[in-house]
Amino acid sequence: GKYRVVSTKPMPGTRWINLLIQQDCRVEICTQNKTILSVEDIIALIGDKCDGVIGQLTEDWGDALFSALSKAGGKAFSNMAVGYNNVDVNAANRYGVAVGNTPGVLTETTAELAATLSVAAARRIVEADAFMRGGLYEGWLPHLFVGNLLKRQTVGVIGAGRIGSAYARMMVEGFKMNLIYYDLYQATRLEKFVTAYGQFLKANGEQPVTWKRASSMDEVLREADVISLHPVLDKTTYHLVNKERLAVMKKEAILVNCSRGPVIDEVALVEHLKANPMFRVGLDVFEDEPYMKPGLADMKNAIVVPHIASASKWTREGMATLAALNVLVYHLYKK
Ligand code: GLV
Ligand code: GLV
Repeated sequence: GKYRVVSTKPMPGTRWINLLIQQDCRVEICTQNKTILSVEDIIALIGDKCDGVIGQLTEDWGDALFSALSKAGGKAFSNMAVGYNNVDVNAANRYGVAVGNTPGVLTETTAELAATLSVAAARRIVEADAFMRGGLYEGWLPHLFVGNLLKRQTVGVIGAGRIGSAYARMMVEGFKMNLIYYDLYQATRLEKFVTAYGQFLKANGEQPVTWKRASSMDEVLREADVISLHPVLDKTTYHLVNKERLAVMKKEAILVNCSRGPVIDEVALVEHLKANPMFRVGLDVFEDEPYMKPGLADMKNAIVVPHIASASKWTREGMATLAALNVLVYHLYKK
């Protein structure tokens, strides 16, 4: 192969490797038995000659790595993720390295996990499963694991981009929920969808669903029964949900986060969960992954899963393929 492309992790499927090999690349996959590679590990992988790297969201792609890649002749880097808060794009620019991410293929998979966590929290599925396995079930009772009915409640979406809008559609259509959303941009297609679905329900003699674009985030927090967070993580969204904003939410609200952990002040969240046993959360991401803040693991009103929102076979293979195309495009374009 003319080009040397490094992947810091083995990735699902074979299509991504074949694509690279067909275009004259030699592919090297790091198989080091270590979940998260350090900057030093990756510098060693890059070595003296490297044309492109496919990396992971757990890695810190800043000056040190882009300078090493640039010195090795590398011109392209792709994160195998849609989020790129782990990538210093300015540093990449300084070293002349093009940066890619993998949007699109993970939209529905991620939205489906947010929907899953919403419903699981509403119906207390994880608690009920533990109860059953714990041998505590002694027979049907009128008050056993009573949860929330989603129908005609309000779903709140913070960040109505690709993923937030897909989630909103699922909750509106699947559960006949009303929508309130907050975003800097108007989600025109989402609004049209809810309007059309409302008309469909009305034509069938049912109460229509409604939508509202909130003028502030607090408006969503105040009014929604289920709130899902879908912003990008940057300086403006760090601790977006803090102690004060948790206090604005309904006592029996459900909060879901499949975006990035630091969007929530997790210490404040643990306190809030303790003080409000009817408040429930579904979390896919954490402030200090892989760790949880003290006390979170003991909360029965929290469902926690290990950053698996994009984890469907189709999506992960798609992400790998897009990441490979991202590093290829540069070299193909140059030819
Ligand atoms: C996963 O968290 C991603 O950003 O793709
Ligand atoms: C519950 O199982 C019912 O029949 O109402």
